[in-house]
Amino acid sequence: MDIKIIPLPAEKMKAKIADQSQLGFGKYFTDRMLLVEWKSGQGWCDARIEPYAPFMLDPACTVFHYAQEIFEGLKAYKWSDGRITLFRPEMNARRFNQSAERICMPEFPEELFVKGIEQLVSLERDWIPTAAGTSLYIRPTMIAVEPVLGVHPSNHYYFYVILSPVGAYYAAGFKPVGILVEDHYVRAVPGGTGEAKTGGNYASSLKAGQEAEKKGYAQVLWLDGKERRFVEEVGAMNMFFAYGNRIVTAPLTGSILSGVTRDSVIKLAPSLGLTVEEKQIDINDLMTDIRAGKVTEAFGSGTAAVITPVGKLCYKDEVLQLTGGNVGGITQKLYDTLTGIQTGKLKDEFGWVRFVG
Ligand code: COI
Repeated sequence: MDIKIIPLPAEKMKAKIADQSQLGFGKYFTDRMLLVEWKSGQGWCDARIEPYAPFMLDPACTVFHYAQEIFEGLKAYKWSDGRITLFRPEMNARRFNQSAERICMPEFPEELFVKGIEQLVSLERDWIPTAAGTSLYIRPTMIAVEPVLGVHPSNHYYFYVILSPVGAYYAAGFKPVGILVEDHYVRAVPGGTGEAKTGGNYASSLKAGQEAEKKGYAQVLWLDGKERRFVEEVGAMNMFFAYGNRIVTAPLTGSILSGVTRDSVIKLAPSLGLTVEEKQIDINDLMTDIRAGKVTEAFGSGTAAVITPVGKLCYKDEVLQLTGGNVGGITQKLYDTLTGIQTGKLKDEFGWVRFVG
């Protein structure tokens, strides 16, 4: 399918953000967006890159009432030689369709997913920030836009992609964050939608997140929805715990997100002298191991969060420090290696980098 490029009038061009240290996360958006429609009986149609603008949508649309929505997150980088790259976009295309299947939305052609993003990013290349720790965050989304109140999958969808120049996800930057282990609310249950990247999972996490923030924590660590015993994920990151050179993370049992950064950490680890274990982590054992000094580091992984050190964990009012509240050596090495590959400072031995023409 060809993508039509709708001209961008000069008066619709926004000023770029001059001070890249002020970018934060997801506050600014570029001049254009990609939009493709799906209509029942017709399939995907009318692909176009057009000026970024609000949608005019019927208030009865399914997305507003029953949250039929999915999204993805990936990043583009501008290397020092001026080349533009994406990091493992095929993984996002595949996961997008896994989410679509779970939320009863139409499959989006994976080739068009990557090609459309490449064309959009190429047109918006001047928006890609280059300061250390910055990138262009890409948000592919699908929403149900049929105006009907019956609880059924929609007959009309928008697939769209918006772009946002970003810095670090957490306001403090690459600094250890505090995480509160949530033992009341749950994020996902077996058979639920925990594995899908759908807005409802994030909406239902807000209450716990807000309560954690009031107590001074950046986010919550979810436990499994059945026994509230096994570590799952932090909403914006998968979690890893280091026992010396062995790093442990929760397995993909269907209720946590299959993170692209999680997968990258697992694949990078052996080349950094680390072994990886994907296993159920009982929160009580974890706290015992932290108390005993066996857990030497903890960090989260995510597209937005990259590698985020965790310096403090609180469970049932007991607060334990990790790595003395500092950034651990493994966390630093993984951050440097991953961002080194993403920004072209280190060789990509894995074939993860995709150049945008
Ligand atoms: C991402 O890391 O891309 C995400 O979608 C997490 C989001 C909550 C910012």
